[in-house]
Amino acid sequence: MCGIVGYIGKREALPILMDGLKRLEYRGYDSAGFSVANGDRIVTEKAVGKVAELENKINEKDIPGNLGIAHTRWATHGKPSERNAHPHRDCSKKIFLVHNGIIENYKELKHDLEKAGHKFSSETDTEVLAHLIEEYSKQVPFEEAVWRTLAHVRGTYGLAIIDRENPQKLIIARNGSPLVLGVMDDGYVIASDVAPIVRYTDRVIYLDDGEMAEVTGQSCKITNFKRKKVKKEISKIDWSVEEAEKKGYPHFMLKEIMEQPEAVENSIRGRLVVGEGIAKLGGLRDVSERLRRLKRLVIVSCGTSYYAGLVGKYMLEEYAGVRTDVEHASEFRYRKPLLDENTAVLAISQSGETADTLAAIREAKNKGAITLGIVNVVGSTIARETDAGVYNHAGPEIGVASTKAFTSQLSILALLTLFLGRQREMSFVMGKRIAEELAEIPKLMKSVLNQADEIKKVAEKYSKYSNFLYLGRKYNYPIAMEGALKIKEISYVHAEGYPFGEMKHGPIALIDKNFPTMAIATKDSVYEKTLSGIQEVKARSGKVIAIATKGDREIQKMVDDVIYIPKTLEMLTPLLSVVPLQLFAYHFAVGKGLDVDKPRNLAKSVTVE
Ligand code: F6R
Repeated sequence: MCGIVGYIGKREALPILMDGLKRLEYRGYDSAGFSVANGDRIVTEKAVGKVAELENKINEKDIPGNLGIAHTRWATHGKPSERNAHPHRDCSKKIFLVHNGIIENYKELKHDLEKAGHKFSSETDTEVLAHLIEEYSKQVPFEEAVWRTLAHVRGTYGLAIIDRENPQKLIIARNGSPLVLGVMDDGYVIASDVAPIVRYTDRVIYLDDGEMAEVTGQSCKITNFKRKKVKKEISKIDWSVEEAEKKGYPHFMLKEIMEQPEAVENSIRGRLVVGEGIAKLGGLRDVSERLRRLKRLVIVSCGTSYYAGLVGKYMLEEYAGVRTDVEHASEFRYRKPLLDENTAVLAISQSGETADTLAAIREAKNKGAITLGIVNVVGSTIARETDAGVYNHAGPEIGVASTKAFTSQLSILALLTLFLGRQREMSFVMGKRIAEELAEIPKLMKSVLNQADEIKKVAEKYSKYSNFLYLGRKYNYPIAMEGALKIKEISYVHAEGYPFGEMKHGPIALIDKNFPTMAIATKDSVYEKTLSGIQEVKARSGKVIAIATKGDREIQKMVDDVIYIPKTLEMLTPLLSVVPLQLFAYHFAVGKGLDVDKPRNLAKSVTVE
């Protein structure tokens, strides 16, 4: 949600900034801009729309300078326009800054600044920062002016600031929005996440909340808000540049769908001891004894990660015997959650930066619960703030619609079920069975992916419809929700995900020949009930596409189209049944000519509440 990038060092800043913006574009793409400093001359360019628009605008103009900041925006305050695009500046065009986050008290600050004579040129919350720094700079040096400004603002920020009068310095600060500092041999590149950094260095410093860094071409000094110098560890990025590229696929989303067997393989590698029917989760070792005494697990997450949590509930309750509640992270902190020391709160987050999930984890900590994470992005805030956790190792997910992170999350939840189950009553035989079936999933996923062409034809056949009902029971109920979310977010058509049994309590009224149903009807403990539901849809002239188990010829006679998936253990079925739904949504949207990697109004990594 908004991406910022900056550079200071010996190289030309602009190519690094432009490349960084392209790699961060999945965080927001309604406008983009940069400022490059060359001595005391600062050149700023902005454009509405995607980064390509900015690139067209500068059209290979020569903009030299070894210091610069840039931003790709996901609008919060003020509509997408050049005026509202970052970088923002003060009245004297001395201070330029880019910001990811929200300044909550900007109205009061703006009012006071306007009274003091400052002229604002945008509708954003961000601009107050530039004017405040300007105001303080009249009395104190640049760094001190930034400190004083930050002491006055309430809200979240990842900030990068340059000052015409300090052309050898880049100041960055973090509170609630991620910032990573890449350490190069001849300078520093800073960004909202590692995607723009990995090309230049694998050595990074993750800034924590309340920290500010003064960066020059040769050194960086990090201080906390108590003005104490902090010594930071240099971490290594484990993603390669190639992983973050499209590798010949037309879209990241398709690449990531196709990568799922590998992503799941990486998630379970070294963690599954099939012969013993156990899962070894190194990240949980330190809290293992506390987890043995655990009475309740509360999963907090958002969107697709929330649906993974719902599948996890079915797994953990049925096989590990651990009471599990799943909550939208955005609701959790505004209720009065009843937590105690026998409750663990588990955050599931691809990005590890989702503001709602992070806030929920902080609230859980306040209440004394042990906090755990299932996170894909190494070094992200949620990964660092939870007491213990398991990394996905699914590789970078760039497509805004989450796909491989989801199936990877499901595979980790299956591992967790095994881990907690074997600490409790799960037998060796059952543990071994789950482990064997989980180890087979990547191979089975490949066989589903091999049907991509047929699934594309089904998507084409239904291209004229603009409403869909997605239905599933038990383990496949969250998959129905996830399938509906996928098509909604990238195709902008209306889709509702429902538990099959709930259909007759309301949504059935929607069904007619123009309202097709995607029915997940795999051969499992609720198969017969699901078939009855399909009959009810057919009786009302509804068209039905079924996701069914290979070999089920019966269902073919009942429905309009069938996509088959292989048989596996019921609890692992979601890892396979979601794949056709991802491909269906992908081809449906591409058929409409839409940019599936950057759907309108959305952004990856939602770092505002
Ligand atoms: C949907 C999607 C979102 C995210 C949600 C949580 O395709 O990607 O619904 O799942 O914003 O994001 P993370 O998992 O990064 O916390």
